[in-house]
Amino acid sequence: MSELIGVGIIGCGNISTAYLRLASLFAGYEVRAVADLNIEAAKAQAEAFDVRAETVDDLLGAADIDLIVNLTIPAAHAAVSKAALEAGKHVYSEKPFVLSVDEGEELAKLAAANGLRVGSAPDTFLGASHQLARHLVDSGQMGRITSGTAMVMSPGMESWHPNPDFFFQPGAGPVLDIGPYYICNLVQLLGPVASVTAFTGAASDTRTIGNGPRQGETVPVETPTTIHAVLRFHSGAIITLIGSWDVWSNEHNNMELYGTDGTMYVPDPNFFGGDLRITAKADAVATPAWSHPFGVANDGDHANYRGAGLADMVQAIAQGRPHRCSLEFSLHVVDVMTSILRAGETGQVEQISTSCDRPDALTPDAAQALMA
Ligand SMILES: NC(=O)c1ccc[n+]([C@@H]2O[C@H](COP(=O)([O-])OP(=O)(O)OC[C@H]3O[C@@H](n4cnc5c(N)ncnc54)[C@H](O)[C@@H]3O)[C@@H](O)[C@H]2O)c1
Repeated sequence: MSELIGVGIIGCGNISTAYLRLASLFAGYEVRAVADLNIEAAKAQAEAFDVRAETVDDLLGAADIDLIVNLTIPAAHAAVSKAALEAGKHVYSEKPFVLSVDEGEELAKLAAANGLRVGSAPDTFLGASHQLARHLVDSGQMGRITSGTAMVMSPGMESWHPNPDFFFQPGAGPVLDIGPYYICNLVQLLGPVASVTAFTGAASDTRTIGNGPRQGETVPVETPTTIHAVLRFHSGAIITLIGSWDVWSNEHNNMELYGTDGTMYVPDPNFFGGDLRITAKADAVATPAWSHPFGVANDGDHANYRGAGLADMVQAIAQGRPHRCSLEFSLHVVDVMTSILRAGETGQVEQISTSCDRPDALTPDAAQALMA
């Protein structure tokens, strides 16, 4: 690629450090400026990473910025992405992409009208272990995946995040906040979801912040914090999904997929790495060998390649091919998540109106080609 794509980040909170720190791993783009409603937050990141701090309007108007990375809170995602598209910039958003299918469809129209790309995190499904799972499914080694479980349970987010308010507001909760990692991975492995049903609840009306300057302050809980859902995929697979921030301890695997020829124990889809274990039918559990760039530990013991989806979108723009963390894929996942929450309210089976192709597999060579 001859010219670097100029990236501007809007939203300089907790996760912006990972994007700024890891940007140098990837080819094709350069972070040039950051903005935030809170200009002090933008200035602090600008100083730490040697980029410009600007107001949101100035960043949207900057001639050297081709693509906006939207790292604002979920409630602001749609409006900030819309403003980026109206300013003529491609946009890549943190998850959840948007909070409703209508918001996503509006962005799709705007992007199509302006010839711009829209992408969204999570990109952890591009990680080594999840791409090994993809390879095993696609090569037929597991037979047909008929069912499985996806489990993400913890005591919640208020113990570590200094401003955890948004986690407990509509637009977050475990399904919209953590669900994207799990549901994206299921969709990349199994294809689109046909229908869902769910029951939901919450253990408490308030949560107490456990960290930072607001430690001890309580925040209201206005969205379910325990969700038990069942997803039926067009492939026929049936998956039980449990998301909860009301659980102190549990011993479930994060993801188990049951095929006609064996079982796959998939590591946490919140991360790029981890050991994927399989059985051939009832044989002993084995850990297949797999060498993939996005499995190499680069963050303590963890493989952290946050920004891989952005790098793939940047390369896709240059090559004129579809990008993997696409609007269609992200919107389908939003549809699944919002339908799960609606099913929790109605007690009905909700049909999923959107669909998507599975993103292309990211082979080790394709992953290497995204790196600087
Ligand atoms: N924190 C994490 O570990 C993590 C991990 C993965 C994904 N995410 C996602 O990233 C997003 C941001 O999370 P975070 O933890 O960094 O949140 P945060 O609250 O720490 O930071 C959000 C920042 O966005 C700014 N902001 C809000 N609305 C804005 C607007 N309209 N225009 C400009 N700036 C605005 C806020 O001032 C704040 O500085 C969320 O969607 C979250 O789900 C977070």
